[in-house]
Amino acid sequence: MNRKIAEILLHAVEEDFTVQEIEKLLEKPKYEHLGDVAFPCFTLARNFKRSPNSIAEEIGSNINDPFIQKVQVVGGYINLFLNKVQVTKEVLREITLLKGKYGQKQNNNENVVIDFSSPNIAKPFSMGHLRSTVIGNALANIAEKNGYYVLRVNHLGDWGTQFGKLIVAYRLWGAKEQVEAAPIEELLKLYVKFHDEAEMCEDLNDKARAAFKALEENEQSALELWSWFKRASLQEFMQIYEQLNIQFNAYEGEAFYNDKMQSIVDELKDKQLLTQSDGANVVRLEDMPPCLITKQDGATLYATRDLAAAFYRQANYKPSKIYYVVGNEQTLHFKQVFHVIEKMGYSWSKDLQHVPFGMMLKDGKKMSTRKGRVILLKDVLKEAVETASKNIEEKNPSLRNKQEIAKQVGIGAVIFNDLKNYRLNDVEFSLQQMLNFEGETGPYVQYTHARIHSILEKAKFTVHEEIPIEELEESAWGIVLLLEQYPQVISDSLEQADPSIVAKYVLQLARVFNKYYAHTKILVEDEKMESRLVLCFSVATVLKDGMRLLGVQSPESM
Ligand code: ARG
Repeated sequence: MNRKIAEILLHAVEEDFTVQEIEKLLEKPKYEHLGDVAFPCFTLARNFKRSPNSIAEEIGSNINDPFIQKVQVVGGYINLFLNKVQVTKEVLREITLLKGKYGQKQNNNENVVIDFSSPNIAKPFSMGHLRSTVIGNALANIAEKNGYYVLRVNHLGDWGTQFGKLIVAYRLWGAKEQVEAAPIEELLKLYVKFHDEAEMCEDLNDKARAAFKALEENEQSALELWSWFKRASLQEFMQIYEQLNIQFNAYEGEAFYNDKMQSIVDELKDKQLLTQSDGANVVRLEDMPPCLITKQDGATLYATRDLAAAFYRQANYKPSKIYYVVGNEQTLHFKQVFHVIEKMGYSWSKDLQHVPFGMMLKDGKKMSTRKGRVILLKDVLKEAVETASKNIEEKNPSLRNKQEIAKQVGIGAVIFNDLKNYRLNDVEFSLQQMLNFEGETGPYVQYTHARIHSILEKAKFTVHEEIPIEELEESAWGIVLLLEQYPQVISDSLEQADPSIVAKYVLQLARVFNKYYAHTKILVEDEKMESRLVLCFSVATVLKDGMRLLGVQSPESM
């Protein structure tokens, strides 16, 4: 609402201000009798060297808008009383017209790249990768809703010295059938064994280096093993993406940049940014450790590939922004990479943004995929669906399409649990809690949506443009105000690259609606019934769309 009011005020102020500046000044009055929104005129008064009250009087007399019922000037404040009927009509009308498109910004012809998920080949899909996947996908949906064209890029970890180790380990101890049966588990075992054995036999590390060198030189048998590992791993990752209902525009992993790094190394040399340090080539940076570009033996590194990736994307996708959704332990890495690009003289380095996030915790401890404490994501998702299925069995055994809905609820619960807190906070992983129908959970929001659906169904409600909207109960006003905020919520969450803003919003909308529902009979045949149904329809529409942005489905019954 504040945005809308700022626009109205901007009109009345007749001076050079932006909507944002005015919006920032708006306050909520302490007491209800002072109106819905207050605009303090003290800053303006200072600018114009006039008394706040005379300015308030002047602006106040200029306000003339159907949304505003009454204007009151008191002690340098302009107190505004909203015309609730008018606002309600306007908001509900817009949602019934636009439905799922409500809040959709016009296409702005700009591209953004979102680099997310990006698991490592031959390693289990970790909880950290789950976080990246879920946050990145939500951010992508939110960017689309804000009018951007979005490219979802998976920067697979499919290159690096670890593949030398894996090749050696496989040749020494691996068995084809076993790897084929359970690729990631088997490859992980080989990798762990390699490290154990290498502690006793230094020779192995030399062999691994040689194997990686062979790989970099495209030696046939090494390359074949590598691409087999990659194919097999991808197959497993795909199953996870399918369950989460997530697609990518491009799988451009680290190996994709193998032939795209030399030109960057050359350019760094030409620009005299490359210096030697212990035989390696580095770029020295201010206020942070140098960025390693090539090792002594000429091998490139993670950062080198990220540099190549940034240039490739810049040239091919012409993005106005690239988001890197990667855990906060890589903050330094991205600072270094962005800084190197800046030093090379490219102003677009400022359009690169690392979107970090906290860890996933179980019982307060880090969920690790290493050292035996292996928690496999596919097991976690399976368990979530099974638990959701049990819940449905208890609560609503006659539900149709139970299996499909259990999937939507179980997976949705995992996603929502991840997204509901500010992304930099750590996330506690408790299946019991996240599947609770009453807590701050995905199922709670889904359940609210389904409940509204059944009300609408009972009333045989169909939405059409001619529905006359009457004044609603006072208790509906909070819902209307929230509905009005949705478009603003969508831009805020992109601006802060934080899907939790949307998640918190749908939770609040569900909560406020449930309170209303507890005190109001919706299906009473009076002159307001249609309007109440439109309100219900609008809440369901916005809940569903908000959940869709988060990557969570909204079943119609559950
Ligand atoms: N594969 C990396 C990891 O698991 C994440 C890659 C993130 N994206 C990037 N452009 N570096 O740690």
